[in-house]
Amino acid sequence: MDLGLTGKSVIVTGASQGLGKAIAIEFAREGAHVFISSRSEDKLQVAVQEIREMTGNKEVNYAVCDMRNENQIQSLVQKVVEKQHTVDILINNAGGPPAGQFMDMSDDDWYGAFEQNLLSVVRATRKVIPYMKKQERGRIVNITSSSIKQSIDQLILSNTMRPGVLGLTKSLATEFAADNILVNTVGPGKIATDRLMELNEKAAEKSGRSIDQINEESIAEIPLGRLGEPEEFAKAVVFLASSANTYITGQALIVDGASVKAL
Ligand SMILES: NC(=O)c1ccc[n+]([C@@H]2O[C@H](COP(=O)([O-])OP(=O)(O)OC[C@H]3O[C@@H](n4cnc5c(N)ncnc54)[C@H](OP(=O)(O)O)[C@@H]3O)[C@@H](O)[C@H]2O)c1
Repeated sequence: MDLGLTGKSVIVTGASQGLGKAIAIEFAREGAHVFISSRSEDKLQVAVQEIREMTGNKEVNYAVCDMRNENQIQSLVQKVVEKQHTVDILINNAGGPPAGQFMDMSDDDWYGAFEQNLLSVVRATRKVIPYMKKQERGRIVNITSSSIKQSIDQLILSNTMRPGVLGLTKSLATEFAADNILVNTVGPGKIATDRLMELNEKAAEKSGRSIDQINEESIAEIPLGRLGEPEEFAKAVVFLASSANTYITGQALIVDGASVKAL
C-alpha cells in the first residue's frame, strides 16, 4: 500500500522519546519531512540524530515546545511553516497526567492536566487548521489513552481529560470534513515505554509489592499476553494520518492487545 507520505510536512509533539518518537520514526521511514518537539532540547537533539541515522531521512528536525505554553506552540508551527511551507499532518501528543485518585488532586493538578492534555490539542489544532483549509487537505491524530473507552484505576486525570479529547476529535471531524481534514484519536493500552514503567513503579510503591509482581499482573490482563511495542502503536497512527486513509474520520482506535472490554 502506498501511504503517500513522501515529502509531507508532519509535526509530532511530545516526541523526544516513547510513542511520539516511535511515530516520528515511522513517518521518517516513509519519506515525510518531520518536525519533532518536546520540552527538552538535549533529548530532542539525540532523538533527531537517532531518527536520521535509523531511517536515512535527513528531513527530520526539532523545535523545543512545552505543550502547556501557547506561545511555544505558535512558534513551533511558525518554524515548521518557514522550513516546510505548510503543515499536512499534526500528531498531538504530550506526557501523561500524574497518577492518583480524586482526593489526591489539587486545583493545580486539574489545571495542569487540562492544559497539557486537552487545551494543548485545541491550541495546536487551531494553529494548523488555516494551512490545512487553504490546501483543502489535512490529517490530525490525537494521542489519548484506552481511558477514552474504559476508566483506569488511579488515573482520575486521564479518565477525565482524555474523553474530552475524544469529544473534540468527533466535533473537529464533523466541522472540517468539508475541507478534507480527517481527525481521529488513537488510544494506547499498555505499550512498553518509560511512562508505563513509571506508572508500574508508582503502583508497586503504593501497594508494597515488587515491581516484577506488578509487571506480571499488568501483562496477565492483556489477552495477547504481552505489552505492545511502540512501533506497533505508531503504525496505526501513521496509517490514519496518511493519504491511504481517505474515509476514516472522527474515530477512536484503541491499540491494546484486546485489553479493553467495553464495546
Ligand atoms: N505507554 C502507554 O502504554 C500509554 C498508555 C496510555 C496512555 N499513554 C499516553 O500516551 C502519551 C505518550 O506516552 P509515552 O508512553 O510515550 O510517554 P513518555 O515515555 O512519558 O513520553 C512522553 C513524551 O512527551 C514529552 N512531554 C512530556 N510533557 C510534555 C509537555 N508538557 N510538552 C511537550 N512535550 C512533553 C516528553 O519529552 P520531554 O520530557 O522532553 O518534554 C516525551 O517525549 C502520554 O500522554 C501517555 O499518558 C501511554
